[in-house]
Amino acid sequence: MAKGKTTVYFCQSCGYESSKWMGQCPGCREWNTFVEEIVDKKSSAKTTGSRETAKIVTLKQIEMSKQQRLRTQIQEFDRVLGGGIVPGSLVLVGGDPGIGKSTLLLQVCQKLSQISRKVLYISGEESLQQIKIRSERIGTFSDSLTLLCETNLADIKNVIQREKPEIVIIDSIQTMYSEEISSAPGSVSQVREATASFMQIAKGMGITVFIVGHVTKEGVVAGPRVLEHMVDTVLYFEGDRHAAYRILRGVKNRFGSTNEIGVFEMCGDGLREVQNPSEYMLNGKPKGASGSIVACSIEGTRPILLEIQALVCHSSFGIPRRTAAGADLNRVNLLMAVLEKRQGLPMSSSDAYVNIAGGIRMTEPAIDLGIVLALVSSYQDKAISDKTICFGEVGLSGEVRAVNMVQQRVQEAEKLGFEKCILPKVCLDSVKEIKGIQLIGVADVREAIRCIG
Ligand code: TYD
Ligand code: MG
Repeated sequence: MAKGKTTVYFCQSCGYESSKWMGQCPGCREWNTFVEEIVDKKSSAKTTGSRETAKIVTLKQIEMSKQQRLRTQIQEFDRVLGGGIVPGSLVLVGGDPGIGKSTLLLQVCQKLSQISRKVLYISGEESLQQIKIRSERIGTFSDSLTLLCETNLADIKNVIQREKPEIVIIDSIQTMYSEEISSAPGSVSQVREATASFMQIAKGMGITVFIVGHVTKEGVVAGPRVLEHMVDTVLYFEGDRHAAYRILRGVKNRFGSTNEIGVFEMCGDGLREVQNPSEYMLNGKPKGASGSIVACSIEGTRPILLEIQALVCHSSFGIPRRTAAGADLNRVNLLMAVLEKRQGLPMSSSDAYVNIAGGIRMTEPAIDLGIVLALVSSYQDKAISDKTICFGEVGLSGEVRAVNMVQQRVQEAEKLGFEKCILPKVCLDSVKEIKGIQLIGVADVREAIRCIG
């Protein structure tokens, strides 16, 4: 091996560094994720070398330029970013391959080019012809969008320095490589190096950089998780590939709140915004079927109504089978234990399948009451009126606990024509009566079950 080069093992899932190969990563507990990489000590030392010209300032001396957020006119996208694009920020858009990241960013480019922003789309995955085919599905573009097919970091840097675009899209970070690092593109050290260079470009030149990163389970390609701490904003694009809707979720945001979501629908002509997700999610809800109820969850600042379905049947095996799609399985197990202990329902000998219709993933505890009522409705084979909605957290003693933003939830339910709302008793004081919807406060699971009977 050449002088100055050492072999290091990196966990491809979390970036843990070790001098020896290990079967299990001590950092993230994943198995078989360590891959050997050759690191050039000289090149990494070069970037961290001290500079004598570094100057220190006080807070007062920092001048604020009036940074206007740049609105893309795609409202769902702007909302997740916290109100638009912050100039000079580095944004990571992660997601499974084929979920629609390239499509989303090309549509962002389209909108930005329409308001005459200089945008450069750099693709390392697709040829110019392929991008052209995609763009024809999406619509018309103005000439302020330019494209480049390149994967060499040094060349990309030169182009950016020469062309000085306002916004750069890198699709994807796993295809970019620096000649100074000998490991293959997509490895942890390459991906880190590439992200660090784009960080310098973003901060040094005030260019907004969007980085696309694929998430893979097998650890063949370094997942974007290792980059999360390096970038300003992390967005995840998720959804069931077989369903049409997609959710853009903010996981980290230095310039806004996280937990905001944007909902899109994948159509033949690209992604379309879903302005009213509740209506969209409740589409196709069966009428008069047991084991189904509508619950209300808050995502960021918006209430979203969703249908919770449960199927409970007698188990023919010693260990009952349980699955939860869209909800947390541990939570479902816990709620079933509560039903067994507090209500006397023989859940431990029942199989149970819980599903949040539409494939959406919800983790807010406020949907607990919905899960409980869906389970009971299925167990008793009694349908709940489809004009009923519920929300509330369920505690271990079977008590129904308070949740936040009650007024918004009730308003959303009323807007969509629900007539009966089952909510925690303690929340009754914090909500104003709304005409057309009956509020039923419940203190525990027993009272809630009585309401639907
Ligand atoms: P893509 O943006 O290539 O995914 P990613 O960059 O995350 O890998 O999306 C590809 C999928 O989107 C593909 O299965 C086809 C579908 N699609 C549509 O349904 N309609 C469209 O208008 C476009 C452009 C893509
Ligand atoms: Mg792509």
